[in-house]
Amino acid sequence: MSEDAMHGMNVTIRIHRFTPKAEPDRARRHSSSPFGGKARGGSPFGSSPSRRRIRGKHFTQDYAIIAQPGQTVLDCLLDIKRNIDPTLAFRYSCGHGICGSDAVSINGTPTLLCTAKIEDYAKSESSQNGDASAMANKGFRLTESAENAVNNNISSTNSRNSNGSDNAGESNGSLTNQSSPSSLAVIEIAPLPGFPVLRDLIVDIDQMMNQIKKLEPYLKADGKLATTKDGKIDMFEYLQKPEELKRYELLSNCISCGVCEGSCPVYAGGEAFIGPAALIAASRFINDSRDTATDERLDAIATSDGITACQSVRACSRECPRGIDVGEEMWQLTERVKNRQA
Ligand code: SF4
Ligand code: FES
Repeated sequence: MSEDAMHGMNVTIRIHRFTPKAEPDRARRHSSSPFGGKARGGSPFGSSPSRRRIRGKHFTQDYAIIAQPGQTVLDCLLDIKRNIDPTLAFRYSCGHGICGSDAVSINGTPTLLCTAKIEDYAKSESSQNGDASAMANKGFRLTESAENAVNNNISSTNSRNSNGSDNAGESNGSLTNQSSPSSLAVIEIAPLPGFPVLRDLIVDIDQMMNQIKKLEPYLKADGKLATTKDGKIDMFEYLQKPEELKRYELLSNCISCGVCEGSCPVYAGGEAFIGPAALIAASRFINDSRDTATDERLDAIATSDGITACQSVRACSRECPRGIDVGEEMWQLTERVKNRQA
């Protein structure tokens, strides 16, 4: 392991924060809560009170920490929450790219907090800047005063370590909410685009989940009753060939994280588009040979705010954490709907 990797490096985590204003009772009654008023609006998929803009204070806050290469951005936020600022709000659950609850925008790219490695995000920025010093420092993007900061930071870290102190303890002890003059990298985190912000990095995903639900993401099939060896009927059986399974297997890995929706310029425009996450959920069953509701499903997405609204920008394909080529799937759905109408 290199010396830099052993000692950690100073990183400024810049967070776009939001503190909502307390709502009067009347507004709360008409909120997206199941106990609130009915949704109004013209979209076939249902307009959403949840798309409404919540009022409050937007501000940007910098946190200077020492991060170890290999740490995720989620690790850094947890450090900040535990050691600097317990008021910082963000959502996560599994911590391993499985639940999809922690989608945000990092340096302008929608992605998951728990799979985003600190050095990867800093590296891509430093490469863009073409900064030789940053390249020498494992890809961390240099800030304006970086040339001096590189030397100051490394020498001060080395002198602390030569005193025999523990690395992990030092990292925690150095956490601060003051901008450090020796900051080497800035990683900017904002809420997932296209979703209303509830607080700090937490967005309201109700609209996306409702749209997914509207497309009935469950198997509609005529199963055959199977019999046990002794002739008793005990279960439904759905027969399928391996190549048929392959057609929808990858699509069933979608975790509804919303990263594709946060990348989609059409979805960001409001209620004009049901969004790629809901269409991926529909596509998973449209491509399932056991499902008997294919026509019904194609009808449901062949609307002005369904697949017809997709402009094939394909930004949705770039960052899917489950490796789904979302743009290609959208194209396949467009073709299915078009060929059916022809
Ligand atoms: S298709 Fe990929 S990016 Fe879109 S919601 Fe599913 S897992 Fe997330
Ligand atoms: S915390 Fe579950 S996907 Fe990131």
